[in-house]
Amino acid sequence: MSKITITQLQQMKQRGEKITALTAYDFVTAALLERAGVDIALVGDSLGMVALGYESTVPVTLREMIHHCKAVRRATHNAFVIGDMPFLSYQVSPEEAVRNAGRFIKEGGCDAVKIEGGLEAVPAVAALTRAGMAVMGHVGLTPQSAVRMGGYRVQGRDEDSAQRILDAALALEQAGCVLMVLEAVPEDLAARVTEALEIPTLGIGAGVHCDGQVLVLPDLLGLGSGPVPKFVKKYANLGDQAVDAIERFCAEVKGGEFPTDAHSYHSTRSDRTRTSSSG
Ligand code: KIV
Repeated sequence: MSKITITQLQQMKQRGEKITALTAYDFVTAALLERAGVDIALVGDSLGMVALGYESTVPVTLREMIHHCKAVRRATHNAFVIGDMPFLSYQVSPEEAVRNAGRFIKEGGCDAVKIEGGLEAVPAVAALTRAGMAVMGHVGLTPQSAVRMGGYRVQGRDEDSAQRILDAALALEQAGCVLMVLEAVPEDLAARVTEALEIPTLGIGAGVHCDGQVLVLPDLLGLGSGPVPKFVKKYANLGDQAVDAIERFCAEVKGGEFPTDAHSYHSTRSDRTRTSSSG
C-alpha cells in the first residue's frame, strides 16, 4: 500500500469504492489503523471526550490537538491524516483560521484539516484553500455547537433543514473543501448530498449511501463502558477483555503467581532485557 492522496480518494468515489476512516489519537491507535490499512486517520476533537476525559469537545485546545496529531503522524505512513480544528480555532476570523490550520500542517504533520459548520464556515474554508491547505467540511450534527442545536440530535429531518444542509455542503465544496463529513442526518438526505457533491462524503450516522464511513475508534472497539449511539457497530469488546486481563494480573501479583521463573532474570544467563514491542 502507498500513501493515500486526495486524488486517490476522489477516484474511489468515482469508481464506487467505499472509503474507510477512523479516529486515531496517539501512536498506538494510529499504528493499529495503519496495520489494518484504513484510508483516513482522523485526529478528531472527540479526543477531548474519549482520551482526555472532558464532558464535550468544546474545551479541547489547539495545543492538545497538535500534540496528538504529531503522535499519530509518527505511526502513519499510508493513511491520509486529517487534524480536527478545535472550537474557536477557526471561527473568529479567516486570518486566525489560516494561522491555526497552518500549525496542524507544519507542526502536526497533517495532510488536511477538518472544520465543522455550514454556510458560516465558508469564509474560513475559502481562506485555508487560498493558503494551499486541504480542508474537510463537517455538516449535519456539529458537536462543537451541540448546545446551540439543543443537544446531540439528528439534523435535517424536515425539508427546510435538509435543504439548508445540502446548500451548505454545496457552498463548502465551492469554497474548496476536498472531503465532507455528514453526521447524524437521515440516510436519504445523505444520499442527496453525496449525489450532489463531486467530493467524497464520509458518513457517521448518515446511512449507507455516503462515499465512505467514519467512526470513533474506541466505540468500534468497545473500549468504553457506557452506551454508544445507534449508528455505532461494536466490532469487539476490548474494554471487557482489558479489564479481565488487568484483574487477572492483580490477582496473580497478590497471590504471588506472577512473575514466575520464566519472567525473571538470572545472574548466570545472558537474558535479553527486552523482547517485545514494549521497547
Ligand atoms: O471528532 C471526531 O471524532 C469527529 C468524527 C466523529 C467525525 O468529528
